[in-house]
Amino acid sequence: MSNLEAIYTQLPENLRDLPQPKSDEELEEMNYRVRHWMSSMPGSIKIGSKEHKQAVCQMFRETFNPYRPTFMDWPKLSEEEINRLKSLPIWDIAVHTEGKARLRMAAYVKELLDPEMADAIARNAWEENRHKEVLADLVKFYGIPLAQEQEYKVPKDAEWAYMVTGFSECWDSFFAFGLFAVAQKSGFFTKELIETFEPVMQEECRHILLFANWLAWHRKNLSLLKRVKFEAKLWAVHAFLIYERLGLIKDVDVDGQEYYEDNNFTINGVAELGKEKTSIKDFLKLCLSEDDHRFAGYDRRLVRPTTAPFLAKLLLRILPEKIANKQLG
Ligand SMILES: [Fe+2]
Ligand SMILES: [Fe+2]
Repeated sequence: MSNLEAIYTQLPENLRDLPQPKSDEELEEMNYRVRHWMSSMPGSIKIGSKEHKQAVCQMFRETFNPYRPTFMDWPKLSEEEINRLKSLPIWDIAVHTEGKARLRMAAYVKELLDPEMADAIARNAWEENRHKEVLADLVKFYGIPLAQEQEYKVPKDAEWAYMVTGFSECWDSFFAFGLFAVAQKSGFFTKELIETFEPVMQEECRHILLFANWLAWHRKNLSLLKRVKFEAKLWAVHAFLIYERLGLIKDVDVDGQEYYEDNNFTINGVAELGKEKTSIKDFLKLCLSEDDHRFAGYDRRLVRPTTAPFLAKLLLRILPEKIANKQLG
């Protein structure tokens, strides 16, 4: 087992026998615990301080959901429902994205000098690996064909790769929260599938909460020169992501891997998952309210991911009526 594999396959403490809720009340309690967290620290929390770092790491540990991927109770679906699942062009990219995320996070953990932050990001890597296992289990159960998996390469610049993954998750999660609600409303995903995937969705919310707070903490703890370099790198990451999302990167990945994937399912997917047509305006509003709803239970003193909600609100204000009312898909 490689060093990095050891990080994403083993939690820091021995939680191989993840304690499962034994009754409906325990399950309800656990569902509440993973969605709500308040630091016991009184007063304000200075962003970038030791207390800030401790609070975010504690949040990540204490909102952990102990579900076991191999024990997922996949609901029985009709042939039509299975065919609908098979028709979604997301499975290859989803498996690959989780595989890349776990490795990139693990690679960054190796570089981190702060043991508490390293522990939190190692847990995040572990959870990405669990997402991959959940997806692998799902595709196997429903017989969804997958393309040959790409080889995962250890990133040369772990911090860059971690930031690319973190910001990608921020964007993807913002739209995925909306898409999930669309699929729930239209019945595209059955009630049982929605319930099964709900913990994964909420986990992505915790991941981007951790990422936003890592970013805020990290940049405050850099010397002036390092901070200038870091901010430049941040812009480069955003430029890379815009370039990628515009579909301009078709065959070269961040690490030089060659392949093509649909990075824009989050937008194209509204038409696939919804029953009724949804306008750009309504979809953005839905993403914003779902985003608010998912973050509502976490301590307000922690930093929230703001770029995607900010741009969505800006678009709602500046988009000409004709474009805002355009139907997606
Ligand atoms: Fe994930
Ligand atoms: Fe994630």
